[in-house]
Amino acid sequence: MYLRARLFLLMLMLLGWFQSSRSGNDSWSDPAHSQSNQINPGLSGNESLTTASLSSGQYEIFLPLIFKDPGTGPRVCPPLVPQTLRSLAQLDHILIGSAVNIRALRSDDQYAQILGQEFSSLTDESTMKFAATEPALDQYNFSAPDAIVAFAESHDMQIRGHTLVWGYALPSWLINGTWTREELIAILQDHIKTVVGHYKGRVYAWDVVNEAFNSDGSLRTDSFWMQRIGPQYISVAFQAAHEADPDALLFVNDFYATPGFVAAIHTYRSLDVPIDGVGLQLHMYNLQQKPTELSADIGRLEAEGLQANITELDVPISRDTGTMEDKLVAQAKIYAMVMDACLQHYNCTNFTMWGFTDKYSWLYSYLGVTYPTEQPLIFTPDYMEKPAEAALKNTLLSAACPKQ
Ligand code: G3I
Repeated sequence: MYLRARLFLLMLMLLGWFQSSRSGNDSWSDPAHSQSNQINPGLSGNESLTTASLSSGQYEIFLPLIFKDPGTGPRVCPPLVPQTLRSLAQLDHILIGSAVNIRALRSDDQYAQILGQEFSSLTDESTMKFAATEPALDQYNFSAPDAIVAFAESHDMQIRGHTLVWGYALPSWLINGTWTREELIAILQDHIKTVVGHYKGRVYAWDVVNEAFNSDGSLRTDSFWMQRIGPQYISVAFQAAHEADPDALLFVNDFYATPGFVAAIHTYRSLDVPIDGVGLQLHMYNLQQKPTELSADIGRLEAEGLQANITELDVPISRDTGTMEDKLVAQAKIYAMVMDACLQHYNCTNFTMWGFTDKYSWLYSYLGVTYPTEQPLIFTPDYMEKPAEAALKNTLLSAACPKQ
């Protein structure tokens, strides 16, 4: 039986080799030489990006039948049918996700349909935060996040909890209260244990602290928690989350993975603070800023034994000149570069964007603008695939089914 299976596999591999030797990729190099930017690592210039050429209109991706190297296990590429982001990401053993806008989820059927079809991970954009879940002391409201978690579970999706401790989205009763340091430590512990405990076994990963560090690894001093509790709030938060759900992966969610930042995380872990990974937000500022250092950043986390998650990727285009076509292709290159950097490292396990359709983006309210000014995401407002979405699919395909 085994011999026949091996012969069948060998035959299919030969078939796959023949077909794959006919497939090809266009590639182009980045003409832009860009300046770095304080939010994300800069670009050295002369980047080259290999991806299939992008045609206009519907970006259908058809997959040849190819077998991977038996050394990595006979991973089977799917037959010639259109693939979703989710099915392609599964070939590469990563989760691909989106932040969820609760109002859109409840009111826009097409939003819900695409979300459940294309993604394998969800991050609650707003309703799991402190002010939303504990609007009054010891009074909790889980109606909105429960709807998001139920949607994810009904679509066999993983859930990233976001975020337990941040200097924003805090309720007025907390900010305006006259609390001792010990009272605030107890409030923080109770909040985390209640929220994480409510979703125990259902939320696989938590952004425990958000935007707590400077790029050199020092703690930001503009955080309510840092000002009122001091540096200990980090260990208090992670230990409370771990006690509430020992099986959940616990992340620091921030902008960096510089040597200084990673050294700081190393120190916490050496003191038994249960940090499993780092979320890299990657809100891009403009098209001139590209993630050339991202692969090195993820590799730095890998060397430290930390998981890396891309947690909030979006790529606005309004600050750039050029034709819309040129800007959308430049945007696609950036999305593909981030995916490519993630796929280069086994510790990069989740690739999440801060939304998926230009119909809804935090940038509109944040900047006081409306579509079509920003267009930061991968689907148009009427849910057509943009070049960025096709570039992600091609990058996933190239990693899963490289030419033999
Ligand atoms: O739900 C209320 C609604 O009832 C009310 O009518 C409306 C009035 O303004 O406010 C609504 O709440 C808003 C919430 O988003 C839901 O839309 C809050 O005011 C608004 O501040 C909140 O903004 C979110 C922001 O975080 C603060 O929580 C954005 O949507 C969200 O995209 C943004 O996400 C952050 C990440 O958590 C951390 N990284 C940066 C990222 C962008 O700022």
